[in-house]
Amino acid sequence: MRDLKRPVEPYRIKVVERIKKTSRSERETELKKAGYNLFNIPAEKIFIDLLTDSGTSAMSDKQWSGIMVGDESYAGARSFFRFEKSVKNIFGFAHVIPTHQGRAAERILFEAMVKKGDSVPNNIHFDTTQANVEVRGAHAVNLVDDAAYDPDSNDPFKGNMDIGKLERFIEQTGRAKIPLVMLTITNNSGGGQPVSLENIKSVSAVCRRSKIPFFFDACRFAENAYFIKKREKSQARKSVPAIAREMFSYADGATMSAKKDALVNIGGFITYNDATLTRRLKNLLIIGEGFPTYGGLAGRDLEAIARGLDEVVDIDYLEHRTSHVAYLGNLLDRAGVPVFKPIGGHAVYILADRFLPHIPRHQYPGWALSVALYREAGVRSVEIGGVMFGKKDPKTGRETYPVLEMVRLAVPRRVYTVSHLEVVADALIALHKKRDSIRGFRIVEEPAHLRHFTARLEEIK
Ligand code: F0G
Repeated sequence: MRDLKRPVEPYRIKVVERIKKTSRSERETELKKAGYNLFNIPAEKIFIDLLTDSGTSAMSDKQWSGIMVGDESYAGARSFFRFEKSVKNIFGFAHVIPTHQGRAAERILFEAMVKKGDSVPNNIHFDTTQANVEVRGAHAVNLVDDAAYDPDSNDPFKGNMDIGKLERFIEQTGRAKIPLVMLTITNNSGGGQPVSLENIKSVSAVCRRSKIPFFFDACRFAENAYFIKKREKSQARKSVPAIAREMFSYADGATMSAKKDALVNIGGFITYNDATLTRRLKNLLIIGEGFPTYGGLAGRDLEAIARGLDEVVDIDYLEHRTSHVAYLGNLLDRAGVPVFKPIGGHAVYILADRFLPHIPRHQYPGWALSVALYREAGVRSVEIGGVMFGKKDPKTGRETYPVLEMVRLAVPRRVYTVSHLEVVADALIALHKKRDSIRGFRIVEEPAHLRHFTARLEEIK
């Protein structure tokens, strides 16, 4: 099983953080206290934390030294200009304003552009993006290619928008009701899959013809650009920064959570071309985030983002990053653990309904598997299935479930070694062998929205 080629880190480790194993009985106590919700478990009681790749990166020596030289002036800080230069260099848009994280960028952009009754198409909206559209009284519409919902298809670009669906949607809805079209790169809610340059060009052409602004949700743009280089034949000889520049050249702007592909623990931004947006965006920014040269961040954070953006497009970094995640996926796949294919850029997604065929959807197999993995090895993952996306009819109480019932193992950037990944794989393989002993769950307490964060559950005896 260990004959897979091990990815070699293009860095060495200068600072370490202690993590501790817990005993099975400690984990059992934690689970009971937490209402079997892994979001409620203190991080100190987690051995390997694959809850998210967001804000969990290890910063480099260059980024940490940037923290020391951050300029904390309220207005016009040197660090802002450094940040602005780095963003413009990679994205190529005319304007950039910092925000404290991705969802703040979404909130401000949508407040400026989206009205009640509008529709925003996307390949698949991330949950905060969807919530920020819906809070405006607008519709978040997912128009991804059908291949996205087929976990066995080895299609290299399962994040692609279905161009036919997009054209028909614009024709039926009318462009006046579509303030912008978005593309999420990579497509987090659909298995961390990339969008091809070809597809980006086609989406752009449709938007330009219909005079609809086109924005990226660019959190994982570098991983997407790397997949384009590797999988799109015509792009093999281009550098990742050149591919990124070309991707962005077809759009009017982007929202970004710097907590992913800027290799920092906090931060985000909006970058765009249309100068007429500036006044509205800056007013909203000043009300909620801060002055336009810091936007809810410290000068040192801007400095770290600037340096992180330069590092994330490095080919050695990206080769390691993607093969590191794929290593975990391939260990599981070889051992017969059902995984979503191809392996995503930032995470491995396990097909929980296939892993636990004896647990019906209304007993949340994804949730059951994520609890079992914590119980087995102190590994935290996240369910992306019936608890996160199930919808309850308010009258009948009947629930409908998303197409895919998955558990995401999101790999933080530059944090865990191959040995850590092997611990995760071994635990899942052991669980797969005794899968019949894993039981389903019922929800005993839930809020009205985004229930997975705070719901309490119990195990069905
Ligand atoms: N868009 C996508 C595609 C995301 O994955 C996220 C965050 C956001 C927007 C929001 O950014 O967290 O900085 O406000 N995703 C994290 C995750 C939380 O675990 O996938 P944020």
